[in-house]
Amino acid sequence: MFRLLSKQPVFPKLSRSYIAGQFTGKPNANGKYTVTLIEGDGIGVEISQAVKDIYAAANVPIEWEPVDVTPLLIDGKTTLPQPAIDSVNKNLVALKGPLATPVGKGHTSMNLTLRRTFNLFANVRPCKSIVGYKTAYENVDTVLIRENTEGEYSGIEHTIVPGVVQSIKLITKPASEKVIRYGFEYARSIGKKHILIVHKASIMKLSDGLFVSTAKEVAKEYPDVTLDFELLDNTSLKLTADPSDYKDVVMVMPNLYGDIMSDLSSGLIGGLGLTPSGNMGNKVSIFEAVHGSAPDIAGKGLANPTALLLSSCMMLRHMSLNADADRIESAVLKTIASGPENRTGDLKGTATTSHFTKQVIANL
Ligand code: NAI
Repeated sequence: MFRLLSKQPVFPKLSRSYIAGQFTGKPNANGKYTVTLIEGDGIGVEISQAVKDIYAAANVPIEWEPVDVTPLLIDGKTTLPQPAIDSVNKNLVALKGPLATPVGKGHTSMNLTLRRTFNLFANVRPCKSIVGYKTAYENVDTVLIRENTEGEYSGIEHTIVPGVVQSIKLITKPASEKVIRYGFEYARSIGKKHILIVHKASIMKLSDGLFVSTAKEVAKEYPDVTLDFELLDNTSLKLTADPSDYKDVVMVMPNLYGDIMSDLSSGLIGGLGLTPSGNMGNKVSIFEAVHGSAPDIAGKGLANPTALLLSSCMMLRHMSLNADADRIESAVLKTIASGPENRTGDLKGTATTSHFTKQVIANL
């Protein structure tokens, strides 16, 4: 236990082995890929149906393998059902609807459990203005990569004495390195050769300080990519004042900051119903909308399936099915741009989920 206090760092060197693997899955004999589908809670069922209908109409070479992720409590630990784990490990890729988390009690978040089970260490969240849907800003084009496994989400909390609780923000060099290295690789792959580390090392000198110093070390291996740093409060101000300043950068940040800043970015383009994401691991990847289960509109046929559809397009590109991704994405964007009668309520429209789905199919 005294090792952490020793002068010799426990993780002294960069490991150089943490880049997320490419998709290595192979199609079945019928030429189709099997993808695990976690439909999720609340509006998850409705938006997953929209994805299934649109994929069937577009003849995308995907076969869905639905799995149940109702949490199991084994030895006091929230666990995924084994068939779900086996399915994701076999297919290497999954599409996931939102999963509701009890507040203040009950099982650990299944979202966290999934990220930990498959070591999904980087959460990629692009945010792009939708042409034809007017918001305060027209040219938002940001990418944010969120550390996905530790930080404020480590779940280490305890009561010291009644009325005094402590929550530990855990930052490690290996996890920081993984997500930062992924950020550099991702920036190169999309031609935005500029990494911005968003942090609060002015206050959290050790934890965020480690994130910052790890970035400086990793950057030595990427001389073609510029590295900059910005304080979280400063980024919040500047991103909302003029998002175009962030067009050419890939932002990388610890867990909680990424969660908040990505919702903020969603607000800039029209809301949570539009924002996709990908959880990247060494071996498997899970793609999901940024939004939650929206209990206020669940079962009413009002949900916007765009975020899950765009997440599925990220998934198709990860699987090198780029033409299918382009076709679905442009049909979705064309539908949103075609007017309020074809948009769902969150985008100030009057369409139901099923009307929107039919319009996307008509625009394929
Ligand atoms: P939420 O994202 O579910 O809803 C926030 C607001 O946005 C609501 O007014 C909702 O109606 C609206 N909204 C969200 N997605 C929409 C869509 N596709 N179409 C139209 N409107 C949409 O956030 P909330 O209410 O804080 O969380 C509800 C539950 O979801 C909680 O149990 C939470 O833990 C869980 N959650 C799960 C996530 C995941 O699975 N990745 C992410 C965020 C929350």
